[in-house]
Amino acid sequence: MPERQLHLGYMHWLNGTHWGGWRHPDAPTAQAFELEYATRALRIVEDAKFDFFFLGDTLPGDIVGEQWVTTHNTGRLEPFTLASQLALNSSKIGLVVTAHPTFYEPYILARLTASLDHLSGGRLAWNVVLGASDLAARNFSLPDLGGAHRYERADEFIHVVRRLWDSIEDGAYLQDKRTGRYIDETKVHRLDWQGRHFQVAGTLPLERPPQGHVPLLYAGASELSRELTAKYADVNFTGPATPEDSIAFNTDVRRRAERLRGRVDPIFFLPGITPLVADTRARAVELYEELNELLPFDDDIVEGDQDESYWSGPDWARIKASRFPLPKGVRSVRSLSERVGADLRPLGVDGTVKPDTADRFNDYGRTLLTALAQRTGRTVDNGGVRVRDVLGASIAGNFPLVIGTAEHVADTLIDWFDRGAAEGFNVSVPHLWEPLERFANEVVPILQERGVYRAEYTTDTFRGHFGLDTPPNSFAAPDPEERSA
Ligand SMILES: Cc1cc2nc3c(=O)[nH]c(=O)nc-3n(C[C@H](O)[C@H](O)[C@H](O)COP(=O)(O)O)c2cc1C
Repeated sequence: MPERQLHLGYMHWLNGTHWGGWRHPDAPTAQAFELEYATRALRIVEDAKFDFFFLGDTLPGDIVGEQWVTTHNTGRLEPFTLASQLALNSSKIGLVVTAHPTFYEPYILARLTASLDHLSGGRLAWNVVLGASDLAARNFSLPDLGGAHRYERADEFIHVVRRLWDSIEDGAYLQDKRTGRYIDETKVHRLDWQGRHFQVAGTLPLERPPQGHVPLLYAGASELSRELTAKYADVNFTGPATPEDSIAFNTDVRRRAERLRGRVDPIFFLPGITPLVADTRARAVELYEELNELLPFDDDIVEGDQDESYWSGPDWARIKASRFPLPKGVRSVRSLSERVGADLRPLGVDGTVKPDTADRFNDYGRTLLTALAQRTGRTVDNGGVRVRDVLGASIAGNFPLVIGTAEHVADTLIDWFDRGAAEGFNVSVPHLWEPLERFANEVVPILQERGVYRAEYTTDTFRGHFGLDTPPNSFAAPDPEERSA
């Protein structure tokens, strides 16, 4: 076996990550509140020896509006509760739970994560997120998420959580029947934390988690996100568009990490990927185009469902500038035209985009054409780009699809891995169950045959799967930074 092994996570989205996927005739009707639905996915990926099963979490601002795009946000179980059940239904695979520091107290989060790390035998990781809408904050007596301040709060939050995990050292519980000493008081520590955002007297009533510190995941590519990843994260799973972008990002974050940590720690970069596998490339492309046909569009697909005044109003200005998927009500050739900078309405939805029209596309429009060429082989030059293809590409969801045979998908992953653009991938699928089963049953065996992926688990903790050392306890062996912090 070669030294360097690729890592795989499975990002469990209830209906997959293609916004039309749940309507596919073979897709199951999702049972968000039934354990069996999640455990079916868990079994598939643990059998395929994945490093981890990943539960994202976003608190919806508008459940009714979400149904047209991110259907998984319309109803989901609380992630710690679900993860504790998943722990009972698995034995090796890592479990990633998402929690937004803005919506927790560090003491509560430290207690939840330490408890689950104990109960899962050291398989937990915490995905730190700072996304979602200001509307979500209003469920927590907050006017909004706090803008850039939420990163500063998250920084102090993570520091306090790590200190709390350390607050009772390994071996503190003596339970010595002979002497009557229940706990070794020299191994119990108080934080007395007086910070800008938090005041925590400290001592978490739990022995240090089996992994010492529960590993941290983070996604995000802005300046503040890079600093947070560099300071704390073990795994980053942001979605760079090309291997070159990924290498530039990884190099930058690793350089920052060295500065902030004062040492070289491993940080694993696992870009997101959505494979769509079929027996032939042509069939895989056909599947993708079938999914695009299932996207909910405006009733008037060409002119759209809005009045003329809408297109110069504030709602459209906000949506047009947003990175989020287009909501229902603006899914038309009209809205697409506004976004790509060329009026496509005269072509109709089945018209072909000719070079003179494509030449007028703005940067966003050109990005769509590039994605379309990669996904389907349709280009303006080969006369294959219809307006409906561009429309589909713009609202299908912006997950990085890799479409083709199992060999093609495996080759793509190995190419990124070999070039140092990724240590592995956080895999999502366009819909369930077939695309997940095909990835697990057809792509993973190729990775195993090529010697870049484990055929059996060799450890049974999250840290173990990644070869991450357990950090020293900051109270037992305080380093100067922890003492002064
Ligand atoms: C692939 C990916 C998945 C994410 N999943 C979530 C999530 O489940 N919940 C959430 O609140 N934010 C989520 N986020 C948002 C990030 O936590 C973070 O707030 C955002 O990426 C910050 O972006 P920035 O680069 O502008 O700082 C996700 C981001 C990415 C890139």
